[in-house]
Amino acid sequence: MSKVLRAAMIGIGSMGRGHLDNYLRLEKEGYPIKVVALCDVDEKKFTNYKADFNIGEVGADGYDFASFNLYTDLDEMLAKEELDMVTIALPTYLHCWGTCKCLEAGVNVICEKPMAPSVEECEKMIETARRTGKNLMIGQCLRFAGQYDTIKKIVSSGEYGKAYSAFFFRGGGTPLWSYENWLLKREKGGGALFDQHVHDVDAVNHIFGMPKAVTTNGYTVFPESAYDCCSTNYIYEDMMPVNAQNDWTLKGNGFYQIFRVNLEKATVWFDENGLRVIDTEGKNVTPEYDTENFYYTELKYFADTLLAGGKIDRATPESARDTVKIALAEMESADKHGEIVYIK
Ligand SMILES: NC(=O)c1ccc[n+]([C@@H]2O[C@H](COP(=O)([O-])OP(=O)(O)OC[C@H]3O[C@@H](n4cnc5c(N)ncnc54)[C@H](O)[C@@H]3O)[C@@H](O)[C@H]2O)c1
Repeated sequence: MSKVLRAAMIGIGSMGRGHLDNYLRLEKEGYPIKVVALCDVDEKKFTNYKADFNIGEVGADGYDFASFNLYTDLDEMLAKEELDMVTIALPTYLHCWGTCKCLEAGVNVICEKPMAPSVEECEKMIETARRTGKNLMIGQCLRFAGQYDTIKKIVSSGEYGKAYSAFFFRGGGTPLWSYENWLLKREKGGGALFDQHVHDVDAVNHIFGMPKAVTTNGYTVFPESAYDCCSTNYIYEDMMPVNAQNDWTLKGNGFYQIFRVNLEKATVWFDENGLRVIDTEGKNVTPEYDTENFYYTELKYFADTLLAGGKIDRATPESARDTVKIALAEMESADKHGEIVYIK
């Protein structure tokens, strides 16, 4: 491993630009990392424009594209560059393709969520990482978010007793920016259910473990899409109510993420007023939590692991594959008008 990590970005659309901002922030802070190359099939992406995105400004300061080696072909980039790591922010249907090529070329990979559209592709990515001995992490970024980390710790530690019920919501305006409009095509993006709601599926998986079954109502607004609005009940052995909803057809600008978990001795809220832990006497007992940009924390965790010569143990591909399993069961349930689907 080089003393300075040589990195590349593959796919520099909206999310790719968000990641590039964090790489450049690390560089600016003197962290031993350098983005040497960018790869995108669409040359227009090698120009400064204000990327349309629903989760905040990206590329705000403009990029000096002359400072990177630019490629429109992934094979050419892998043949010409000596890389330690890449971030893959390709459309979801290309995650397995891009990830396996990079791993086979001996490069460590952070690949965006959702891991891949099928469990078979997820398994192929896991097998390739094991065989090549390279690190593969999936950008299930809520695992690095202070609010979600706090509720995970509260539930796992039993500090406030057993959880009684949980609700998660995520949503905002419709994503109209994507390459060939892949985000609004069922076979490429899987709609809000598979693309955006998957964050809450991962939170449910991480906090409460694999449910035994799901039942999902899905509503499709855009003809080629699938389930632009959805609501899932996760069924656990003890029948504790756990529900997650998503809707990416909300009016007005904005992006919302909300949860509420009620436990024996506290209720935990997270919404536009921040995170609040309220105890049985109604007192606010919110602990200190990390409010850093979680994409930055995620990237730094991966780079720290590589520099230490270690193996990642957060947002692992195995856990991200399980999240895909749950989301696919939800899709099947929605296809069957809310039938209960058991997860194998
Ligand atoms: N973690 C998060 O919070 C979060 C948020 C948004 C998107 N995402 C994920 O990030 C990924 C990208 O989403 P996006 O919104 O940036 O989409 P996008 O369409 O804006 O970007 C994808 C980019 O990939 C490029 N591309 C397509 N085919 C290519 C190929 N064969 N070789 C090289 N480049 C190619 C496109 O030109 C485009 O620039 C998706 O998996 C999405 O689910 C994650």
